[in-house]
Amino acid sequence: MAKILYIEDDDNHKELTRNILRGHELIMASDGIEGIEKARQEKPDLILIDLNLPGINGYETTTKIRGIKEISHIPIVAVTAGNTEENREISLAAGCDGFISKFTPIAEYRCKIQEYLDGKKDALEDSEKLNCLKKYQSRLIAHLEEKITELEKERDHLKVTQIQLLQQEKMASIGQLAAGIAHEINNPIGYINSNLCTMKKYLAKICQYKQQCQKVWSELKEINHPKITQAFESLENLSAELKLPFILEDIGSLVEESLEGVERVRKIVADLKSFSHLDEAELKEADLNQGLQSTINIVWNELKYKANLIKELGEIPLVRCYPQQINQVFMNLLVNAAQAIETHGEIRVKTAPAGDRVLVEISDTGCGIPPENLSRIFEPFFTTKEIGKGTGLGLSMAYDIIRKHNGEIQVESQVGKGTTFRLLLPIDGPQVTENNKTEYSFKA
Ligand SMILES: Nc1ncnc2c1ncn2[C@@H]1O[C@H](COP(=O)(O)OP(=O)(O)OP(=O)(O)O)[C@@H](O)[C@H]1O
Ligand SMILES: [Mg+2]
Repeated sequence: MAKILYIEDDDNHKELTRNILRGHELIMASDGIEGIEKARQEKPDLILIDLNLPGINGYETTTKIRGIKEISHIPIVAVTAGNTEENREISLAAGCDGFISKFTPIAEYRCKIQEYLDGKKDALEDSEKLNCLKKYQSRLIAHLEEKITELEKERDHLKVTQIQLLQQEKMASIGQLAAGIAHEINNPIGYINSNLCTMKKYLAKICQYKQQCQKVWSELKEINHPKITQAFESLENLSAELKLPFILEDIGSLVEESLEGVERVRKIVADLKSFSHLDEAELKEADLNQGLQSTINIVWNELKYKANLIKELGEIPLVRCYPQQINQVFMNLLVNAAQAIETHGEIRVKTAPAGDRVLVEISDTGCGIPPENLSRIFEPFFTTKEIGKGTGLGLSMAYDIIRKHNGEIQVESQVGKGTTFRLLLPIDGPQVTENNKTEYSFKA
């Protein structure tokens, strides 16, 4: 009876081998490190080792055992499911004395084990050994390089996701702040509006009373009594001195203007609310024309000095989407359009039905995108803007959002003439699948 150490991570194979090698004392280890440890403690007569082990694999474990003086002499036999010539050669080169396939018939398996226990060694020339180890080494290096590239890709992806998350969080907190401010402004605007309307009514009454006074005065004047004439003149003089005719006329326009101002503030508040409303972060049926309009109002300051805005908003069905995210895309495209115009130009915003999708087109008469940049504009951090002005994330976020909506984004651009971004969004909205795919295409 011999003492055999079997280093194997698969419980089924351990059990099978236990049956096959009944009659021998079998010690089990589940990975290379445990195997080395048990080899040291138990000093077995033979070590059987699986090549695909977790952690350090079979080849490396063998090399390590061969480097430990007190156990380096123990015969080692590689046992593996991958019965390839390459596996055999590399095991022998790494220091194994033999190689057995896991699929060897039981009787033959027992026989072979006995041969190895009796001191049999599979032979391999030194030059062959060296070749095998070289091949193994270059495969390991290739594998490592592959892993490094994978990790680098993952790191870049994480970096982009982190920045996008930060940006989204920033947008969400700006949204929350805006919604809070909008709510606070709503109250005072409500009573200012109501007071102005009341003032307008009071003013009409004062004017009516003044007209009546003037009528009475002209009748009294006809009596031609010196006291009445004097009183009339003193009142006329005071009215002129106080500029009452002007005031009464102007007060009307002041109230009208104030009411207009209040209406504008009310609209801004409504836009802020619809732009940032927290329910809009949910998937819902949205009117893209309304979304575009409120986004235009939000970025109006950036647009108004740069361009004439032409709106061609068609009759479009409601689109199932995340309105807040879609507004973010509109905002990024509108701001880009304005930034592309150097002095003054035109920005055209168009919507139209397109079968089971809705088309949103934003074009500008700006500087255009050179063909060599066209394929890069959706890359995170790609920017041609000076430091501090652009982070290069606007279009990559837009691309991501449209992708999540199962949509399509197209660009057409001519240097010196302008750029058109076309979005096609399915009316039914995003399908909840793992790999939502967006297509984008370019035309220079
Ligand atoms: N309408 C446009 N006209 C001309 N070039 C554009 C237009 N839109 C995008 N680009 C080009 O694509 C690049 C990437 O745009 P993107 O919106 O992703 O980043 P950015 O505008 O540079 O910075 P950010 O949007 O993060 O502030 C821009 O730097 C610009 O070169
Ligand atoms: Mg941008």
